[in-house]
Amino acid sequence: MECTREVTEDIYWVGGNDRRLGLFENIHPVPDGVSYNSYLISDEKTCLMDTCDWAVGQRFIENVEAALNGRKLDVLVVDHMEPDHAATLNEILLRWPDVEIYCTMMASRMYGQYGYKGLENLHTVCEGDTLSLGRHELVFYLAPMVHWPEVMVSFDKTTGILFSADAFGTFGALNGALFADEMEIDDEWFAEARRYYGNICGKYGMQVQNLLAKASKMEGLSMICPLHGPVWRKDLDKFIEKYDKWSKYEPEEKGVLICYASMYGHTENCAEVLASELIQAGVTNVKLCDVSGTHVSYLISDVFKYSNIALFSVTYNMGVFPKMKDFIHDMQALNLQNRTITILENGTWAPQSKDLMTSMLEEMQGMSVMEEKITVMSNASDDQREAICKMAEDIKATLE
Ligand code: FEO
Repeated sequence: MECTREVTEDIYWVGGNDRRLGLFENIHPVPDGVSYNSYLISDEKTCLMDTCDWAVGQRFIENVEAALNGRKLDVLVVDHMEPDHAATLNEILLRWPDVEIYCTMMASRMYGQYGYKGLENLHTVCEGDTLSLGRHELVFYLAPMVHWPEVMVSFDKTTGILFSADAFGTFGALNGALFADEMEIDDEWFAEARRYYGNICGKYGMQVQNLLAKASKMEGLSMICPLHGPVWRKDLDKFIEKYDKWSKYEPEEKGVLICYASMYGHTENCAEVLASELIQAGVTNVKLCDVSGTHVSYLISDVFKYSNIALFSVTYNMGVFPKMKDFIHDMQALNLQNRTITILENGTWAPQSKDLMTSMLEEMQGMSVMEEKITVMSNASDDQREAICKMAEDIKATLE
């Protein structure tokens, strides 16, 4: 049964929701599911904006057929070739083999690689090219690396709608509500949007900045239709400002994220003491995370939020504890910058993690590793407790 939503009088959401997927990209947990958005413009020519993941294929085709209401599909715009948006392309071509397909030059190369049909009807577009559908006129803007190199976004000059590809997407299925103003956009919602941003686009801050610069010149921008998550038709600035901050690698909030890797609880104890001292000193924006029990995608969401990060790790096989090492490696891979870092290491006979973590962090741009680091040998001594109290004071000073 079809389940479409009207975006405007002649544009329809025809996507699907996947609530069975365990791991997005087979790596990021999506406990609240994910939506694959596709939009159908019903003009003199009918035009489909991207397709969907295979997982929602049946619903997607039913939705497209319902929105077409007996008409044929004339145009398919492929803003993004990643299979969560293009996997059902051949299903579209089976039903509407004459559809004219528009994508970037880079996407056209990937098109053959994936074995999609319809190469004879493929048109490549460049920056600023336009396509008239009748009343609606689409303008194409290249958005390389947001989040693959072939990405473009499409701006409908007639309505001011930006079809933004992965940009402005988020995890989470759409549960009846399509528009952001139909759902509760609270801190929890933004944490998931940040988790999506950090893990999917976080590495490409400069490219996201380029896209934001282009978007700022789109006259009459009235709505953002991403490929995942809700459509924004009100308070666009609220989300654009977040994107601007995240893509400049500016912390969203002054606060302290304490991440610890602890085998038997002694390092965790140090992390708890630091959290307690900070809160007693008046620094209340503190979050404590066990890197072993928290999927790294959530840690990444948090490092894009907080100004200060405390990393407390045991030594393991003469190296940094694997979960902590993976976490720092992810921060490096995603190009995180401009954070103040505090380090504590633990090791019963040969602590190593302090220097190893420091050298990993010093390879990253704009990371300020605080001079005073602490070495604990098993259980923290009274002197080491005092050093943690001093660490709390030093962190507080950086927040003022
Ligand atoms: Fe939602 Fe980059 O694919």
